[in-house]
Amino acid sequence: MKKHELKKLIIKIFIKHKLSKNHANICAEALVNAELVGAHSHGLSRLKMYCERINKKVINPKPKIKIKKISQSISHIDANNSIGFVAADIGIKEAIKNATKTGIALVGIKNSGHYGLSGYYAEQAVKKKLIAFIFTNAPPAIAPYGSLKSLFGTNPVCFGTPTNSKIPFILDTSVSMINRGKIRVAARTGIKIPKEVALDKFGNPTTDAKEALAGVQLPIAGFKGSGLAWMVDILSGVFTGGNHGGKVKDPFDDFTGPQNIGHLFIVMKSNIFVNNYNKRIKENIKRIKKLPKLKGVKEILYPGQNKFKRYNSNIYKEIKISENISKDIEFLLSK
Ligand SMILES: NC(=O)c1ccc[n+]([C@@H]2O[C@H](COP(=O)([O-])OP(=O)(O)OC[C@H]3O[C@@H](n4cnc5c(N)ncnc54)[C@H](O)[C@@H]3O)[C@@H](O)[C@H]2O)c1
Repeated sequence: MKKHELKKLIIKIFIKHKLSKNHANICAEALVNAELVGAHSHGLSRLKMYCERINKKVINPKPKIKIKKISQSISHIDANNSIGFVAADIGIKEAIKNATKTGIALVGIKNSGHYGLSGYYAEQAVKKKLIAFIFTNAPPAIAPYGSLKSLFGTNPVCFGTPTNSKIPFILDTSVSMINRGKIRVAARTGIKIPKEVALDKFGNPTTDAKEALAGVQLPIAGFKGSGLAWMVDILSGVFTGGNHGGKVKDPFDDFTGPQNIGHLFIVMKSNIFVNNYNKRIKENIKRIKKLPKLKGVKEILYPGQNKFKRYNSNIYKEIKISENISKDIEFLLSK
């Protein structure tokens, strides 16, 4: 399906589910972008879930989002249980505005929901020549180091900077060995997951996606990844007023209330300490790319390069819609 046709369909579905045209458009843009960068686990595979949460009144389709200005640089947003895309869109715009005015912005968001890809928001700041840190917490998936119970989300860590070239540096990584969405897709399509990324509910290694969903995911790099997940939970949840410590509800399985996810956006000008950042970042990347390469490696990539390439090669192609997703779309349009 063509990009603009898909976007129109998603907008129609969200409007049917009581979102305003503007909010439906924000959600559709984010979901189509996820498909274009190849992040299918954060794209259309979640459409039905968002609509179900609206139907069950745990996402508010008509939120009254409040922005509390704490200082010229700092804003606190109460998203009123909006769909995460809308809260994050308002949040990143506020952060860009504050940082452009004062040099640095801190925006905390509470009462939000799942917002998709952190990098999508970092890219918006980077397009305005700003540096960004983007944090969000997520429902329990990772067992804290030493525990047999999931508590931390896959809590992505995201950092973006302009590079003085058309490809931004966007490090956007979950702190689990594998992203939970990929396990969900594997469970749905019956494919095996890699070894050493998850344990079953008894603590035994598994490659069965369903067993992994019932068990625990493993953090990257043992206690180091567990520490990063914990840090993101503190910054996004404890600090902003959002849920934390395992209290974020799973959007697919738990409809007993809103998720109250927290996000934290830190955005700043690149020339706060030096007036030649553009030259310095270019030199930095050049030095690393010139290093001797391992056998079989053609180019040392910086984070974000792959995704940029994927987006640009997909943008004029048809977006493939799987049979399952087609059924979801048909179902949602028929309601
Ligand atoms: N909203 C949520 O609750 C939530 C939770 C978890 C993950 N996510 C999102 O899921 C997405 C996928 O996360 P992921 O952990 O699967 O990412 P990933 O493993 O695909 O990529 C992680 C990072 O590594 C970089 N990278 C990949 N290959 C590279 C290479 N060869 N050389 C250098 N860098 C390279 C990528 O550009 C990226 O910045 C992210 O956008 C994340 O924000 C969202």
